[in-house]
Amino acid sequence: MGRWGVRAATTLRQSKILFCSSFLLFTLRPLLSTASDTLFLNESLSINQTLVSAGQKFELGFFSTVNQKKWYVGIWYKELPTRTIVWVANKDAPVWSSSATLKLGDQANIVILDQGSSIRWSSNQSQATNPVIRLLNTGNLVVCEMFDESPERYIWQSFDHPTDTLLPGQKLGWNLKTGLDRFLTSWRGMDDPSSGNFSFKLDPHGGPETFMWRGDSIITFGSGPWVGLNFIGVPDMKQSSVLNFTLVDNEDEVYYMFQVLNDSVKSRLMVDPGGVLKRYTWVPDTNVWHLFWYGPSDQCDDYNECGSFGFCNVSALSVCQCLRGFEPKNQQAWALRDGSDGCERMTKLECQSDGFLLFESMKVPRSSDAFVNRSMSIEDCESLCRKDCNCTAYASSDVDDDGFWSGCVIWSGDLIDMRSYVQGGQDLYVRLAASDLVEASSSKNGSKNTKKMVISGGIAFGLGVLLFIAGCIIWKRKTLQAKHKRELETKVSRPGAIDRIRDVLLNGATISSKRVEANAKEIELPLFDLDTIAMATDNFSSENELGQGGFGCVYKAMLVEGEEMAVKRLSKNSGQGSEEFKNEMKREVHYSIGKVGLTSYVGSYKDRFTFIEIQDLE
Ligand SMILES: *[C@@H]1O[C@H](CO)[C@@H](O)[C@H](O)[C@H]1NC(C)=O
Ligand SMILES: *[C@@H]1O[C@H](CO)[C@@H](O)[C@H](O)[C@H]1NC(C)=O
Ligand SMILES: *[C@@H]1O[C@H](CO)[C@@H](O)[C@H](O)[C@H]1NC(C)=O
Ligand SMILES: *[C@@H]1O[C@H](CO)[C@@H](O)[C@H](O)[C@H]1NC(C)=O
Ligand SMILES: *[C@@H]1O[C@H](CO)[C@@H](O)[C@H](O)[C@H]1NC(C)=O
Ligand SMILES: *[C@@H]1O[C@H](CO)[C@@H](O)[C@H](O)[C@H]1NC(C)=O
Ligand SMILES: *[C@@H]1O[C@H](CO)[C@@H](O)[C@H](O)[C@H]1NC(C)=O
Ligand SMILES: *[C@@H]1O[C@H](CO)[C@@H](O)[C@H](O)[C@H]1NC(C)=O
Ligand SMILES: *[C@@H]1O[C@H](CO)[C@@H](O)[C@H](O)[C@H]1NC(C)=O
Repeated sequence: MGRWGVRAATTLRQSKILFCSSFLLFTLRPLLSTASDTLFLNESLSINQTLVSAGQKFELGFFSTVNQKKWYVGIWYKELPTRTIVWVANKDAPVWSSSATLKLGDQANIVILDQGSSIRWSSNQSQATNPVIRLLNTGNLVVCEMFDESPERYIWQSFDHPTDTLLPGQKLGWNLKTGLDRFLTSWRGMDDPSSGNFSFKLDPHGGPETFMWRGDSIITFGSGPWVGLNFIGVPDMKQSSVLNFTLVDNEDEVYYMFQVLNDSVKSRLMVDPGGVLKRYTWVPDTNVWHLFWYGPSDQCDDYNECGSFGFCNVSALSVCQCLRGFEPKNQQAWALRDGSDGCERMTKLECQSDGFLLFESMKVPRSSDAFVNRSMSIEDCESLCRKDCNCTAYASSDVDDDGFWSGCVIWSGDLIDMRSYVQGGQDLYVRLAASDLVEASSSKNGSKNTKKMVISGGIAFGLGVLLFIAGCIIWKRKTLQAKHKRELETKVSRPGAIDRIRDVLLNGATISSKRVEANAKEIELPLFDLDTIAMATDNFSSENELGQGGFGCVYKAMLVEGEEMAVKRLSKNSGQGSEEFKNEMKREVHYSIGKVGLTSYVGSYKDRFTFIEIQDLE
């Protein structure tokens, strides 16, 4: 954003031009004499002048976009070498002439005048006896009575009308008494402050939680409910020595706010034009804004990625999984890794005989329609849920500094926008029919130790040392694009799959390939070097030997984050060709339909490779 205003406003300290009044119907106001934080009724601000807050933190003035044609009134950090706009008054009503001015209107409102006379933009009208415009050190521009600066009696404040940025101490959310909803709206583009397509709002119901909206009807990101210290879907949002997060939820107000604990720290939360929520902090030594956090930050952050009763697991090859006791509603789409249809119950609920299954480390479902009581115990919560046949899940509502959970949230109906975490999240108890419950708990115990290898086939191919990870991960991007052009607009098969798989082997990172095609003609196979495989299998040690398959020995490969996979080391004389192999792969795509928790891999050794799969017996 450093591009702004190479020639934009600079403070005009010297010129003092006095007009007392004119005989015309409108009065020409005198210009400001010095950079002050206050604009009086008798003054106006021209394009070359600015207001500077008393502590020299923020500055208000006109700025223009690159081409210098449109002028906007904005607030930026006074001290920073790069101009970072945090608020824009007339974002949808730029002025075109350099003789534009800003002043107090007749109704205690801030007005921006084009050519001195026509009003291009105005804040809301009100009544006041002696109003002034003042730029506060918090970055808040207020209209108040000259001798009454108490925040409760501000006539108007820019903090109530945010643009794309939330500053420390600024509220995001609702004044329930007046119906005022403060939310962020993205800029249309990096150099275009007019209202963009994305807005970031707080939903006062349930949790409460925040959502990123595209337009009026599509949610792209949900933070999950507030759980006392953070939003459950933002696990790294921990109170720190730098930032303090608050959510106030009472009869009058529901809002989210953050504060910096050390005044020398600068931090801002903003929605970028592409709909990504970003927190930046200023790093004085390097003179740059550091991206502290952003969201959505992975595929599982996309709103309701896996539909009702599905949850998203970034650690899994196929990120969408159904909660135990549920199966994919649309098997075909699910196999193609489009989880948006979600899952459905295997067994109908009975009410009286139902039980609850615990899911750990979850981002709990969207809570807008949920019942929340922050003073109930989890035991009371369970019995309340048990008694209500419509209740589908319950969980605690709050966690304290010591990690102790309390309170109660009760969901009825579909559970949506869930994901699992490796670290973070909370316990969620989901209602299941008694029969599913028995099955789920026995398979849970069973699967821990008895991962059974199902070796479905092997083929030889002379291509040096390769490891192929299948599960239909890699299809030629071009084929995909041609065949699914429309779908790709929303669901893009991500590039760099080879790197991602390598990452998994080396770092346990996530493979997220959203969409595959069952009948694709071509498969693009990723390469791995032998060292990587040798490392993961501890040099094919006998300790890691899982069993003997049709064409060779199978080894357990341990990834850094504890993820397991299997590698098959082919015996030299298993003579099969690449065509058979690819056919096998295609078949596997169909085969894996609906098998939750099934992961398929292709392993290789020396000049041969084979296809193997591990099946979690569920
Ligand atoms: C405008 O009015 C304020 C207070 O009423 C006064 O302090 C200030 O000097 C005036 N400014 C000019 C330019 O006359
Ligand atoms: C603003 O300042 C520039 C030079 O710094 C000058 O050319 C221009 O006329 C000034 N505009 C106004 C409205 O005073
Ligand atoms: C402020 O003005 C806008 C339109 O300019 C109007 O929609 C809104 O209701 C007004 N708010 C108040 C509190 O008067
Ligand atoms: C906003 O959305 C509309 C309709 O969906 C689209 O045509 C337009 O390009 C989008 N604008 C931006 C800046 O993304
Ligand atoms: C965080 O902010 C809240 C609300 O303003 C305040 O009550 C609390 O004391 C703050 N915590 C710290 C550590 O400053
Ligand atoms: C705030 O940060 C500055 C710079 O990092 C440091 O010098 C100062 O001691 C900090 N103040 C407090 C109260 O922590
Ligand atoms: C997520 O996937 C990983 C890897 O497959 C698995 O170990 C883990 O149990 C899964 N988490 C849940 C909650 O199923
Ligand atoms: C919340 O639970 C407490 C304790 O069980 C109870 O006293 C209170 O009435 C409940 N509040 C609501 C709104 O249900
Ligand atoms: C359960 O849901 C049904 C349909 O949504 C509704 O008619 C009924 O009143 C609900 N029962 C309870 C106890 O809330």
